Amino acid sequence: MKKGYFGIYGGSFVSSEIQQELDIVEKEYLKIKKDKDFIKELNNLRRDFQGRPTPLYFCKNLTEKIGGAKIYLKREDLNHTGAHKINHAIGECLLAKRLGKTKIIAETGAGQHGVSIATACTMLGLKCEIHMGVVDIEKQRANVEKMKMLGAKIIECSQGDGTLKDAVDSALLSYYKQYKTSLYCIGSVVGPHPFPTMVRDFQSVIGKETKKQFKKAENKNPDYIVACVGGGSNAIGIFYPFIKEKEVKLIGVEALGRGENIGDNSCTIKFGEVGVYQGFKSKVLKDKNGNISDAYSIASGLDYPGVGPEHAYLDEIKRVKYEAVGDAEVLNAFYMLTKEEGIIPALESSHALAYAIKIAKTLDKEKSIVVNLSGRGDKDIDFILSLKGENKNEK
Ligand SMILES: Cc1ncc(COP(=O)(O)O)c(C=O)c1O
Repeated sequence: MKKGYFGIYGGSFVSSEIQQELDIVEKEYLKIKKDKDFIKELNNLRRDFQGRPTPLYFCKNLTEKIGGAKIYLKREDLNHTGAHKINHAIGECLLAKRLGKTKIIAETGAGQHGVSIATACTMLGLKCEIHMGVVDIEKQRANVEKMKMLGAKIIECSQGDGTLKDAVDSALLSYYKQYKTSLYCIGSVVGPHPFPTMVRDFQSVIGKETKKQFKKAENKNPDYIVACVGGGSNAIGIFYPFIKEKEVKLIGVEALGRGENIGDNSCTIKFGEVGVYQGFKSKVLKDKNGNISDAYSIASGLDYPGVGPEHAYLDEIKRVKYEAVGDAEVLNAFYMLTKEEGIIPALESSHALAYAIKIAKTLDKEKSIVVNLSGRGDKDIDFILSLKGENKNEK
């Protein structure tokens, strides 16, 4: 496959000046990937600072309640800072130090990537600039305050609909102006090459651990692995080590939000078209006039009109099946896990959970499903309480 491409998807669509810089980033990344000292430092931080390996947990209560396939959770919510995002945040910040950079620039939607980056920057002594849409700032107040406490500078983005895509635009622009002293730490498997590959490699620790843990629990591979897809980092992280294991069904779950109309969901794989956006080629959601459309989801980390190029490819070759669930099912799944297992999931992760609950009922008891529980729901509590009908769901 052509360097930086997954089939026809991926690549790098930036100016020649920025391309030169990205080539330097790639070269250093390929070096550190094999560097024993770097791997040791990363592994030590993952163990002692981050709390890896995260557990694989069998949901006995939920499985009994549903009465079908066994449901397991890969507990990425138990990472320091509460989500999988820290898997690549620490890796990217260590890389920035190797490159002699003094500052990290990043975007955030739900605030999880922003908090992870701000945390890694504090620990590693780097300056930190986080771009965030005004709508997400309002919705994810607690994470905004955490980032500020950690010393990050927050850039409010009021252009567009004030969500994730606008934050990415703003962060990319800022990076292009300051690339000599800074590194852009993108929050998902998106952006120009080498970001999608680098982020995938750092995130694939999730799948590697899952494989070992599931083997220990059941002495085989799981039948299904289900993960939510925004840009696609938690999904590719758990899928990647299983891609060659053809018996394992891999399912990515996009946000159907309020419904199928463009602007009401974030189903880029399902409803998107091929296009170049934010420096890479993938599928993108477009409106009737062919412009990039706004995306919507109840989960701030999923409302992005693009998707990682490797996902577009895995869809095309039919190795991963992409499904979608809407806001109402997501809220049901959120409350169900909370009530049955005492685990409050992030709204993003509740998409994967909702789909798993739906298929578990149709499968027999010997089958097993691993859900990537990408994050914890603490960040979503205020927003959920503000929703109308909250009392009805809580019963
Ligand atoms: C908990 C959680 N899960 C999932 C996502 C979606 O991102 P990705 O598709 O890159 O995993 C986010 C994004 O903010 C998140 O916070």
